[in-house]
Amino acid sequence: MKRFLAPLCLLGSLLQATEPCAGPTSEFQLKGDYLLGGLFDIHHFSTPYHQERPEAMHCSSKPFLLPHYRWFELMRFSVEEINNSTSLLPNVSLGYEIFDHCSDAQNFPDVFKLISANGLIQPWSDPQRNQSELIGVVGPFTSSQVQTVAPLFMEGLIPVVSYGGTASIFSKKSQYPSFLRTVHPNKETLNVIVDIILHFNWRWVAFLNSDSDFGIDGLELFRKMILDTEICLAYTKSLDENVNYSRMFKQIEAQKVDTIIVFASRMQAEAVIESAIQLNVTNKVWMADEGWSLNTRLPKMQGIRNIGTVIGVSQPVVTIPGFSDFIYSTKNQPPCEDLEQQTFCNQICNCSDLSAEDILDSDPSFSFHVYSAALGQFVEKNRVAPGQQGVVSRELGKELVVVPGPGRNLHTEPAFLVQ
Ligand SMILES: *[C@@H]1O[C@H](CO)[C@@H](O)[C@H](O)[C@H]1NC(C)=O
Ligand SMILES: *[C@@H]1O[C@H](CO)[C@@H](O)[C@H](O)[C@H]1NC(C)=O
Ligand SMILES: *[C@@H]1O[C@H](CO)[C@@H](O)[C@H](O)[C@H]1NC(C)=O
Ligand SMILES: *[C@@H]1O[C@H](CO)[C@@H](O)[C@H](O)[C@H]1NC(C)=O
Ligand SMILES: *[C@@H]1O[C@H](CO)[C@@H](O)[C@H](O)[C@H]1NC(C)=O
Ligand SMILES: *[C@@H]1O[C@H](CO)[C@@H](O)[C@H](O)[C@H]1NC(C)=O
Ligand SMILES: *[C@@H]1O[C@H](CO)[C@@H](O)[C@H](O)[C@H]1NC(C)=O
Repeated sequence: MKRFLAPLCLLGSLLQATEPCAGPTSEFQLKGDYLLGGLFDIHHFSTPYHQERPEAMHCSSKPFLLPHYRWFELMRFSVEEINNSTSLLPNVSLGYEIFDHCSDAQNFPDVFKLISANGLIQPWSDPQRNQSELIGVVGPFTSSQVQTVAPLFMEGLIPVVSYGGTASIFSKKSQYPSFLRTVHPNKETLNVIVDIILHFNWRWVAFLNSDSDFGIDGLELFRKMILDTEICLAYTKSLDENVNYSRMFKQIEAQKVDTIIVFASRMQAEAVIESAIQLNVTNKVWMADEGWSLNTRLPKMQGIRNIGTVIGVSQPVVTIPGFSDFIYSTKNQPPCEDLEQQTFCNQICNCSDLSAEDILDSDPSFSFHVYSAALGQFVEKNRVAPGQQGVVSRELGKELVVVPGPGRNLHTEPAFLVQ
């Protein structure tokens, strides 16, 4: 029976909630003259690589990621801010359609919904085709997710502004013509890491990376970058589900490596550090990428001091004015989500138990990236400095702005949109 749930998921859009309720009908949808898509992995599911048949995920039953729910709220906040603004989109209201994009490779109904018009996706080459109202997409988060879904938007040159897709391949404009990101590509983060290693004369290092498009790209770049330096890569490990941490740390000890770069997702980095604490790994230098530099859970862990020093590379945390007021008012008027009768696949959260404090205290990593990804869709042309590249966004005729990042110095002002 379970196997047939996926197609039914699409039919769910016919169901309507019937009970009257004061709050918004769903946090996932807002009507407006223009539609912005949002893809956020509020829940997480590691996809097995080989599947017998394509199946859509039901995300709400998977493990919940509080920091990602915060990003989701940030997108809602940004849209409200744009709608309230008299300068960004005057006399026009902006709506959104957000989806829980919980798996790297099994989340196509949401993308099809976004690019369809009247429930149909017609060939791009057909001049008569009805276009979807979509003017841009915020997300998705991981490089693997971008790689899976971005091509479907690139066909119609719909701007996809990712707040986390850092892999190098997305800089290829011929392949990703309307892809933009508000994070630094891996190369820039690794440049900073290499500079730090050289500065302190650490020569003998280990590189632990996610077994994903993001992590593999990081390892390849790092290998290239250290070719002409005195840095030696003594040990590498791809962090998949089968890692035996005890063996891994024994091998690292045997190689006498003291500097360990962990280029991994938050969850994988947490697993590495937790194991290091448990296994009494001491006095190492750990280098963190943006995925876990600002982790709020690890510093509170008992025994964390013994593992040594953690050096993180990250863009600075920026306070977003008005966001906490928005969260308090949202939580005072919870949406009338009807868990039985969801409107479409993966537009359900079951997050009503969360307090405003829970959301505001969660890991702030990537928050500004999400905020700027939503706002960046509407930056006005006159705010672009000369020499910066732009991509024309459909329908609104406004220019979408690409501001080159601040180069190798990640600790200066955060970039707005990075190519
Ligand atoms: C938008 O305007 C409404 C009504 O004036 C206000 O209550 C709300 O806080 C504003 N939201 C944002 C994000 O500025
Ligand atoms: C958008 O903002 C305007 C002005 O603040 C308000 O009148 C309108 O109701 C808002 N629309 C939505 C969909 O929030
Ligand atoms: C927005 O609407 C107001 C009132 O209808 C009008 O005065 C103003 O010129 C409009 N602004 C734009 C940019 O169309
Ligand atoms: C576009 O939509 C209109 C109205 O919904 C419909 O009459 C028309 O046949 C559609 N065009 C195509 C090419 O499907
Ligand atoms: C992990 O590696 C250690 C040796 O370092 C070994 O004793 C242990 O059995 C391994 N665990 C598993 C589950 O394979
Ligand atoms: C780590 O150290 C603690 C106390 O020093 C000890 O009880 C524990 O057995 C050690 N664990 C390992 C895996 O060596
Ligand atoms: C919602 O969450 C509650 C508690 O966190 C859980 O008991 C319930 O099964 C969840 N419902 C769904 C539909 O996931």
